[in-house]
Amino acid sequence: MKKAAGSIALLHAGQLLTLAGPRGGRLGPAMRELGIIPDGGMLVRNGVIESVGSSEEIARQLPNDIDVVEARGRVVLPGFVDAHAHPVFGGNRVDEFELRAGGASYEEIAARGGGIRSTVRKTRAASEAELLSLARNRAEWFLHCGTTTMEAKSGYGLSLAEELKILRVVRQLNETSPIEFVPTFLGAHAIPEEFRDRPDDYVDCVVEEMLPAVVRQNLAEYCDIFSERGYFDAASTRRVLGAAKAAGLKLRMHADQLTNSRAAALAAELGAVTADHLEQTDTAGIAAMKGAGVQPVLLPASVYSLGSTRYPQARAMIEAGLAVVLATDFNPGSSPTPSIPMVLSLAVTQMKMLPAEAVTAATINGAYSLGRGDRIGSLEPGKRGNFCVFDCEDYREIAYWFALPLVHSVYVNGNREV
Ligand code: NIG
Ligand code: FE
Repeated sequence: MKKAAGSIALLHAGQLLTLAGPRGGRLGPAMRELGIIPDGGMLVRNGVIESVGSSEEIARQLPNDIDVVEARGRVVLPGFVDAHAHPVFGGNRVDEFELRAGGASYEEIAARGGGIRSTVRKTRAASEAELLSLARNRAEWFLHCGTTTMEAKSGYGLSLAEELKILRVVRQLNETSPIEFVPTFLGAHAIPEEFRDRPDDYVDCVVEEMLPAVVRQNLAEYCDIFSERGYFDAASTRRVLGAAKAAGLKLRMHADQLTNSRAAALAAELGAVTADHLEQTDTAGIAAMKGAGVQPVLLPASVYSLGSTRYPQARAMIEAGLAVVLATDFNPGSSPTPSIPMVLSLAVTQMKMLPAEAVTAATINGAYSLGRGDRIGSLEPGKRGNFCVFDCEDYREIAYWFALPLVHSVYVNGNREV
């Protein structure tokens, strides 16, 4: 069971990043506006923010029975929202990590039976209880990096029973962890070994068996697919996502990661909420996403971890007026990090996003991409009391001092969790 919601007053944040603003994802120049209150304070009652203002204003209306959190000049901002993550899997791929150092590519390793399929073998071999225990441990890592809401994709089971097993683990995680998990069905992540010679039959299985069961058991809000050469082509993508939409799921899509297969434009055509990765997406793909209101989810940690230098065109996307999101892509193959602060560093240094744009992308824009922009992602009256305190004076330091754990404390629904 989740804890009862807490009540606290926060005082003396050197910078309180409210991210306050109009409803909806932040576009273009609005991505730079963080709504910073110097010497800020906030009142949270029963898990919900009641007021936000200067410390003086908050101190004036302090209820006598409330616990006061002294930020002592530190930076306070909304808990991070990680809108693309694969946290439930067995084992790790440290062997492939070493092989890549020796020159092997992600695609070569996958072609030899490694890659996603190797994690599928380890995930199938793990019991539901073992997977839950592994995932709980990982949830603690996320929390310690300042994440308070995250997506959780299935996709390492690739059979009816195994995909349902993973999604049940996500449900149990959600019931017990301070983090809120948003479940996504990713049965179309790879063609499993047993369907190697008949990939179309696997697409049938995803559409006719898995999807109806996932929906019937109410185990996912979103459906995703790895739309990529050697994985799922445009026709299969249309089939899977078309069926998912008809069944009432919202859509996300792994698009244009390794090759430009015009998947960003396909995401627009299919009415996806997000198109994720986009390392190979060109100007036409960006225009298509703009036309359909698709949010790009950029995952620079996977580019970094694969040793590539081909980052997505974040600047062009911001300038085109897209509500850009940043996320970890946490997974054992291409992005073994739960750290949004590391992602912010990569966004600034490698994609030339401004520190403020990066913070917006990992908070309020992430929240809108997960259908929760009305509840989380900013510190405004009526929203959840989810925030983190960083041990620095200026929010730009969060991305600047990279690979340094600057998280001082993390609150979810007004309770201190870290
Ligand atoms: O987002 N691209 C597909 N899926 C993951 C990688 C999964 C894996 O290698 O296990 C990604 O990068
Ligand atoms: Fe991914």
